[in-house]
Amino acid sequence: MASASSACTPYELYSKESGKSYGNQPLSICDESFTPLEVRYDLQAARPLFTRKNIEAGPLNMWRYRSLLPIPEGFEPDLPVGLTPLVRAKNLGKRVGSQSLYVKNDAVCFPTLSFKDRVVAVALANARAFGFETVGCSSTGNLANSVAAQSARLGLKACILVPADLEPAKILNTLVYGARLVRIDGNYDHVNRLCSLIADQYHWGFVNVNLRPYYAEGSKSVGFEIAEQLGWRLPDNVVVPMAGGSLIRKIKKAFDELIYLGLVENKHVRFFGAQATGCSPIAQAVKNNTETITPQRPNTIARSLAIGNPADGPFASRMIRETGGWAEDVSDVEVVSGIQELAETEGIFTETAGGVTTAVTARLLSQGRIKADETTVLCITGNGLKTTDCISNRFELGRAVRPRLTDFEEYLNELDGAVQEPELALAEGD
Ligand SMILES: Cc1ncc(COP(=O)(O)O)c(C=O)c1O
Repeated sequence: MASASSACTPYELYSKESGKSYGNQPLSICDESFTPLEVRYDLQAARPLFTRKNIEAGPLNMWRYRSLLPIPEGFEPDLPVGLTPLVRAKNLGKRVGSQSLYVKNDAVCFPTLSFKDRVVAVALANARAFGFETVGCSSTGNLANSVAAQSARLGLKACILVPADLEPAKILNTLVYGARLVRIDGNYDHVNRLCSLIADQYHWGFVNVNLRPYYAEGSKSVGFEIAEQLGWRLPDNVVVPMAGGSLIRKIKKAFDELIYLGLVENKHVRFFGAQATGCSPIAQAVKNNTETITPQRPNTIARSLAIGNPADGPFASRMIRETGGWAEDVSDVEVVSGIQELAETEGIFTETAGGVTTAVTARLLSQGRIKADETTVLCITGNGLKTTDCISNRFELGRAVRPRLTDFEEYLNELDGAVQEPELALAEGD
């Protein structure tokens, strides 16, 4: 018999706009309102299941929240995905002017080092239940890595489509798992449109096309974890990188469910979105006070966020403004500085998306939109080892040193001298 913590709450797909219910099937768009379908739960049935006690007795991964995730009856997840560290970021806080800054570190998410492991885990559980033998996705990189790895583990065939100019590490991190990878001569929006056509034609489960409503729910686990790791409290602000605009919405949905079920106190949390200037359709919509997304042609090193026509963009823009939050965008130079700042202050090496989030957080604090004494959580969603090309030219390798103490000391003096030179020059000029 399933224990209380592993029991499921009944759920189904429905459209918020038309109110139409769809049961459970691989479908993502309402045929009446043409808007994305959502998963809704029987929240009364969830009450005795989704309790602090049951959650705390659950496994040390995101499946501790399974009674509010769309997991098909009988599916026993065995990959320990999620429950990544929430770390107090005192050093970064000092640098950017926050006394209560936290980093939610999905750069170390299992198994492929990004928050996409969460959404894929939920999507593939449903792919299996719907009987798909082949799964796939359109991806800006991290999703490709995660679908490839988790489908290998589950014994599903994978066919993954990406823009041809993706970072080499993200290509390699897909191929190594034996997935079929198709590089498309176009940007993410071209890739995504092609995937919709393929999903109509073939009986394949595309995690972010026909399985999208289930997939997106996996992101709620980030919100559940933040609240539990803060001691069952909600922060004042959350700063979230945005591509399609799904993650930021689902963290909000998680907080709303926690409040509704009484696991945390009712508190108004403000949501802040982060994008790179070279692809910032949602940030522009927020700044223009509109839900209308004007599609952009992406041109940024933050490739994981490079979605010019984001599926959840209108809803993300509305939600951010309703919470009293804001969205900002930063240049590629600031993205690289953000990566380095987080590494130097907190010892966390993030990919370009995290550089975006760090730089945007600094900007929001300097603008006064986020106050120094408010508790702010910065969502770091991917790992820097996948995007080393954007930062490698910042560092010199240095010459090889002979294995002798004197040579080592000489080299150390050279290094220290190189650092001190500008100060000496200044002192002499005084
Ligand atoms: C590292 C990283 N962070 C954030 C995002 C944004 O997620 P969403 O599309 O849910 O807005 C992505 C999406 O690909 C990503 O790869």
